[in-house]
Amino acid sequence: MTKQVASLGYKVFFEKNLDSLETFITSRSYSQILVLVDRNTNDHCLPILQSALSEITDYDIIEVDPGEENKNIDFCIGVWKTMLDFGADRKALMINLGGGVVTDMGGFAASTYKRGIDFIQIPTTLLSQVDASVGGKTGIDLDNVKNIIGTFTQPQAVFISGQFLSTLDDRQMCSGFAEVIKHGLIYDKDLFLKTIATNLETDDLDDIVFRSVEIKNEVITQDPTEKGLRKILNFGHTIGHAVEGYSLMQDADPLLHGEAIALGMICEAYIAHKINGLSEADLSAIAQAFDHRFKRYTFSGDIYQELITFMQNDKKNEGRKVGFALLSEIGKCDYNIYVEEELIKESLDFYRNR
Ligand SMILES: NC(=O)c1ccc[n+]([C@@H]2O[C@H](COP(=O)([O-])OP(=O)(O)OC[C@H]3O[C@@H](n4cnc5c(N)ncnc54)[C@H](O)[C@@H]3O)[C@@H](O)[C@H]2O)c1
Ligand SMILES: [Zn+2]
Repeated sequence: MTKQVASLGYKVFFEKNLDSLETFITSRSYSQILVLVDRNTNDHCLPILQSALSEITDYDIIEVDPGEENKNIDFCIGVWKTMLDFGADRKALMINLGGGVVTDMGGFAASTYKRGIDFIQIPTTLLSQVDASVGGKTGIDLDNVKNIIGTFTQPQAVFISGQFLSTLDDRQMCSGFAEVIKHGLIYDKDLFLKTIATNLETDDLDDIVFRSVEIKNEVITQDPTEKGLRKILNFGHTIGHAVEGYSLMQDADPLLHGEAIALGMICEAYIAHKINGLSEADLSAIAQAFDHRFKRYTFSGDIYQELITFMQNDKKNEGRKVGFALLSEIGKCDYNIYVEEELIKESLDFYRNR
């Protein structure tokens, strides 16, 4: 039987062969179908989509260049113009087939074209399946400020298939897995324990992906616009985003998002141990879980102030103190905890000196 998660007015279908996709589309009499891909998903994922759509053969493909650097207004204009060239009207459907870049930008393009047309998300990276697939955030970057232009618009449906992950490289898999571990840490100790035991190369991930999406969905449906609880999803991201931004500017081969937040989660677990009751044993289990999968990132104490300034600008803070979501134990997370600079620096020392 198909597994499903009911989100904010739409369903997330977990189907290896996208079995209900065709019926879902044909039952809605769309005037036209557009499929947004990037070069990689055009090569690796479009054939899987095509084999699921045996009756539907008439659709237009829009292809963008892969990569976060292309999640911007210029590419978005390109998408809107192509939609116009294809004669898309308000009853057209957009299918976004790709990682978070394609689902974010495609969702944004669809939600604004002619004041909004329907779209379906088919996330093809682990990160986009467990994170970007639910929550309704669409958007693009502006001048390297991430996701600063966007909308909250829910798709008509999301389809998740493990088939797509077979062509994803190990580094991308691991990066996405950091968000899965995060979902375990903030909400479900059993999931965290499962993530420790999983071998990404050989194990069937379907159950873990399903539980991870279920958790994100439970959180966002209780707090769709991030007034409170949804902030727990930011665990690891306060320090992680700062390091990610630094690495993007500094490194020839920068950290991927999940790699940066893995580092952030180690530091923030240390802070949680110091001020939020997280036990020494939990801290060490968390550090080990990430050490096991992620290479150590080297940086010096000279950049601490730069990182902290980034955090102070990035978040809703209290004076010079920075707002964090912090674990109290594995599986439980609090939010709106304000932390002094000194302790943040200490947590970076903890990461570097282990
Ligand atoms: N909307 C949200 O709630 C939300 C949540 C988390 C992340 N995001 C966004 O998601 C983006 C990151 O997503 P991502 O990590 O998926 O990045 P991505 O879309 O850039 O994909 C990573 C790389 O994998 C390639 N790829 C995608 N699917 C593939 C497949 N099946 N086989 C082989 N290669 C494949 C892509 O072409 C790209 O080169 C960021 O822009 C982030 O802001 C959004
Ligand atoms: Zn994240």
